[in-house]
Amino acid sequence: MKRLAFIVIPALIALGHSIRPPIIEGTEANLHEFPYQVSLQWNFNNGSRARHFCSGSIINQRWILTAAHCLEEYTKDGWFEVVAGVNNIAHEEAGAQRRNVTSYEQHELYDLSAIKYDIGVLQLSHPLDLTRNIKTMRLATKDTLIHQKIAKFAGWGSISKTWEDIYPDKLM
Ligand SMILES: *[C@@H]1O[C@H](CO)[C@@H](O)[C@H](O)[C@H]1NC(C)=O
Ligand SMILES: *[C@@H]1O[C@H](CO)[C@@H](O)[C@H](O)[C@H]1NC(C)=O
Repeated sequence: MKRLAFIVIPALIALGHSIRPPIIEGTEANLHEFPYQVSLQWNFNNGSRARHFCSGSIINQRWILTAAHCLEEYTKDGWFEVVAGVNNIAHEEAGAQRRNVTSYEQHELYDLSAIKYDIGVLQLSHPLDLTRNIKTMRLATKDTLIHQKIAKFAGWGSISKTWEDIYPDKLM
């Protein structure tokens, strides 16, 4: 619990300052350790590669779960892209799959100021091919009992302990 608070509280504090919550004192993830984790990127439509700004999780081949605060368009003529099966977002591993996004929706009760219902979904233009390295996440049901007290949190957020962000290319 102590460890979780250590991760979550800075994440909330950092919201106003950076869209990428920090991963502080984490370690580099093993290759494809989190096969449901995707990189959410914005393509500025100017020839540069799309830029990572948030993570998501694979619900199924067509749908990605993410945070509602990630579903804000950066520029009028750009678009969202999703990359699955990737650890290093600067040098994507073989087998990574990139998709366009056809629609997205924030939770109808999403409240930015209270950070409530910060959840949303994205629909992909083409289904992901599920592979050894690209898998759906396991979803809890309302009957799921969680006995485990230690959780893992993965992401490409800042690893810096100061206000000056340092973004890792590799999943932490
Ligand atoms: C495209 O736009 C992004 C965001 O403004 C910028 O960082 C990048 O340098 C631009 N690329 C080109 C080729 O202008
Ligand atoms: C993604 O969408 C953009 C904008 O509509 C389009 O130019 C691009 O070709 C699409 N990419 C793929 C892989 O479908």
